[in-house]
Amino acid sequence: MPRDGYNGAMESIAAKTIVILISGRGSNMQAIVEARLPLRVAAVISNRPDAAGLAYAREHGLVAEAIDHREFSSRDDFDAALAAAIDRHRPDLLVLAGFMRILGDAFVGRFAGRMINIHPSLLPVFPGLHTHRRALAEGVKVHGATVHFVTPSLDHGPIVIQAAVPVLPDDDEATLAERVLEQEHRIYPLALRWFAEDRLVLDGGRVRIKPGHAGSRDSAQLLMAAS
Ligand code: GAR
Repeated sequence: MPRDGYNGAMESIAAKTIVILISGRGSNMQAIVEARLPLRVAAVISNRPDAAGLAYAREHGLVAEAIDHREFSSRDDFDAALAAAIDRHRPDLLVLAGFMRILGDAFVGRFAGRMINIHPSLLPVFPGLHTHRRALAEGVKVHGATVHFVTPSLDHGPIVIQAAVPVLPDDDEATLAERVLEQEHRIYPLALRWFAEDRLVLDGGRVRIKPGHAGSRDSAQLLMAAS
């Protein structure tokens, strides 16, 4: 179990710090915590006080905070309170893990290049809500998930990693969502491992992944394993 939000076994002093934003269940946050990455999780913050993920975070010794968006009269006021709460933890990276509030341009600008998100589709297709339902309605044969840096456009930005899953003839929204979520739980910790190892390079609108030490997995291997 992590102590003091510290999530890795070996490194301590040089570990980068992340803050995770959630809105609900928090299964991606859980996958990140359980991956025991060489990162310090400074806090988990939810815009919903009843988010199940907050209970998990507290049970695992993490700082867990709620900033209820319903208590603010405007999006800008909420964004400002959220940004202030995040800044107190001085994160190197802000990790959106099922955070379901649209963030304003000022907030996104403040964390530009330091904010990452996971989305349940192969972006740039199916940004927004109900991605699995829309994938089934369109009859696509391949669906998946994307980890990307956040820009002011909704569910859009330089792509770090994607994982694809087949859409099977008998799939419904639930079975497809389950298959995609399984991949989300693999690719988000991997993307954050690359970040922890200083291997992510934002190059214009694209992300380059610097080679790791011998034996580390690269994205091509991961995608093949996912198919
Ligand atoms: C995940 O499927 C994530 O990709 C999605 O919400 C779910 C959260 O689940 N995020 C978005 O749709 C963002 N546009 P979780 O709370 O169990 O991690």
